[in-house]
Amino acid sequence: MILKIGGSVITEKHAVSKAKREEIDRIAHEIAQFKINTTEALVLVHGAGSFGHPQAMKWVNEGFDAQGVYLTHSAVKELNSMVLDSLNRAGVRALPVHPLSSCLLENGKIVDFQIEKLRIMLDRGILPVLHGDVVIDRLKGAAVLSGDRIIPYLATAMNASKIGAGSNVDGVLDNKGAVIKKITPISFVDIKKQISGAAATDVTGGMLSKVSELIELAKNGISSRIFNASRKGMVSKFLYGEDVGTLISDK
Ligand SMILES: Nc1ncnc2c1ncn2[C@@H]1O[C@H](COP(=O)(O)OP(=O)(O)O)[C@@H](O)[C@H]1O
Ligand SMILES: [Mg+2]
Repeated sequence: MILKIGGSVITEKHAVSKAKREEIDRIAHEIAQFKINTTEALVLVHGAGSFGHPQAMKWVNEGFDAQGVYLTHSAVKELNSMVLDSLNRAGVRALPVHPLSSCLLENGKIVDFQIEKLRIMLDRGILPVLHGDVVIDRLKGAAVLSGDRIIPYLATAMNASKIGAGSNVDGVLDNKGAVIKKITPISFVDIKKQISGAAATDVTGGMLSKVSELIELAKNGISSRIFNASRKGMVSKFLYGEDVGTLISDK
């Protein structure tokens, strides 16, 4: 199972490097509760929110130099530490996996990922925690790898059966603000026009790129859900398999 928690949920996206510690703790407890009751293998991915996006802004257009990589990675690593501390305090044996040190890109696409490391952790009941990051890229030198792009790669590589992206909205919304219950590759052609990027500083494309990534995954027969992780209890509901938010599936 792969759970992504959006940067919009655990950080103040309009600020710079400002975490929502209560939200991090609440979600850590929902995950801890689930981990106590099941043996299902879970990988957690979190977004960078205001730790990373404002820092990366400066470099996304002209390209990252070493200092840009360092400053952006340092910011998101700080958020990752808070998430790890919170999970471990809640009783979850969680360890960080930084994409900068375990992954390689080519023109923004993942071409190599140390999956075995994740498998060993899962076998031992450890929760690997990944995050959006700036990663070394064969063509660009370095590029941003969003949490949303990590999900389909991992889901395919690890044969995941349950995938969820927790964001700060109740799901993918239509023009009237109602939750769209299901999106398929066919319906996405029209629905696409109703989705835009993120509301705040975001270098990864917000909701539209999130749905696009998950539609590609659905085409490979792996369905997923986009739901509201800012609402108390929703992460828990998703983990236990409840019908939350928007389902993205091939049919
Ligand atoms: N049709 C839509 N449905 C839902 N959210 C949308 C839509 N169009 C744009 N958005 C924006 O996308 C945001 C979620 O994307 P983002 O901020 O990147 O979240 P996350 O931190 O979960 O990655 C929402 O808060 C909303 O402002
Ligand atoms: Mg996002």
